[in-house]
Amino acid sequence: MQVDESSSFQMNDVESLERKLSADIAAAGDESALETVRVASLGKKGAVSELLKSLGSMSPEERRENGPLFNGLRDRVAMAIAERKAALAREALDARLAFERIDVTLPVRPEPRGTIHPVSQVQDEITAIFADLGFAVAEGPDVEYDDYNFTKLNIPPDHPARQMHDTFYVARQSDGERHVLRTHTSPVQARVMLKQKPPIRVIVPGRAYRRDSDATHTPMFHQLEALVIDEETNLGHLRWVVEQFCSAFFEVDKIELRARPSFFPFTEPSVEWDMRCDRSGGQIKFGTGNDWLELGGSGMVHPRVLEMCGIDPARYQGFAFGFGLDRMAMLKYGAPDLRPFFDSDLRWLRHYGFAALDLPTLDAGLSR
Ligand code: DAH
Repeated sequence: MQVDESSSFQMNDVESLERKLSADIAAAGDESALETVRVASLGKKGAVSELLKSLGSMSPEERRENGPLFNGLRDRVAMAIAERKAALAREALDARLAFERIDVTLPVRPEPRGTIHPVSQVQDEITAIFADLGFAVAEGPDVEYDDYNFTKLNIPPDHPARQMHDTFYVARQSDGERHVLRTHTSPVQARVMLKQKPPIRVIVPGRAYRRDSDATHTPMFHQLEALVIDEETNLGHLRWVVEQFCSAFFEVDKIELRARPSFFPFTEPSVEWDMRCDRSGGQIKFGTGNDWLELGGSGMVHPRVLEMCGIDPARYQGFAFGFGLDRMAMLKYGAPDLRPFFDSDLRWLRHYGFAALDLPTLDAGLSR
C-alpha cells in the first residue's frame, strides 16, 4: 500500500517532469538554449540524472518498478533533445541558404533606364565625324567675357552688330570685367587662338544664349563652331569640310551646297551655307528637291581677329563656321518643334532618345 502510494507519487512526478522538459526542449530557440535544457535534465546534476541516482537508495522492489520508468524517461528526453538539435540545425541552414541565395535569373546589370538626348547624340555624332577629319574638341565657359564674346571678334563696344545678338548680360564680376551669357560659340575661337599656335583644327559643340523664344528659337540653344588656321587654308578647304561633314552627318552620299555672300564682323569674306533638300513628301530628303536648308555662317577669319588673338595675319589665315546644332538634330531626327528639346519631358525623351550605351561611331554607322 505504502509502496503503491509512493510509486504513484513518483509516477506523477516523472510525468510532470517529462511534460516540463518536453516544453523546455520545444521552446529552445537555438543550440545553446537546448544545451542548457540538456544540462538541466541529463547533465551530472540534471533532474533526470538525479532520479536515476535515487535508484541506488531504493529497495529492490522500488527499483524494479522505477528503474524502467526513469530509464524510459532518460531515453525519451535524450531522443527529444537529439531531434530538436537536428531540427535547429536544419532551420539554421535554411535561414542561411535563404539569406545567401543568389537569383541566377537576374540580369548581369540593371537595365539602363535613361536615354541620350538627341542634342547629346548629335554632338557625339559630330565629334566622331570631325575626329575622323583630324579636329580636336575645344570648350569654353557659358558665362563669357564681353571681351571674348564681342571685342576680340571684331565687334567693338557700340558696334551695331551687338544689338543683333539680344544678349543676356551678367552682373559685373569681382574682377571688374563685364560678362555675358555667350551669344555664340565663336568666343571659343579667341580662347583657342590665344592659347595654341597654328596649325589649329578644332570644333566647339556647345551652348549659346539669346533673348529669343518661338517654335524655332529658344533662349538657350546649341551651336557647332569650327576653326582651322594654317598657312594656306582657304575657302576651298572650307567648302570641302562642310561638304564632308554634311554628307557624313545626314548619312547621304551626294549632297549639294549653296554659298551665299553674307556679313559677319569676324570673317572676311563671309559666306552662308544652304543644303539642297526636298520637303515635299512630308519627309525631308537631302541632295534632291527645290528647298534649301540653312546651315549657318562661315568665312575666312578676319585678319584683325587673328591679330587680336595673337596670331600673325601676315603668315597665317584660316576659316571658321558656326552652324545651328539643334536645327540639325530636329531635321535628322524628325522633331518639328524646338521647344520640347528643353522641356525635360520624359515621354518626349523616350520617344526621341537614344540607347544610353550606344556611342556613335563612323564604322558602325552614326545613328544606326
Ligand atoms: N557666330 C555666328 C552666329 O552666332 C555664326 C558664325 C558665323 C560663326 C561665321 C563663325 C563664322 O565662326 O565664321 O550667328
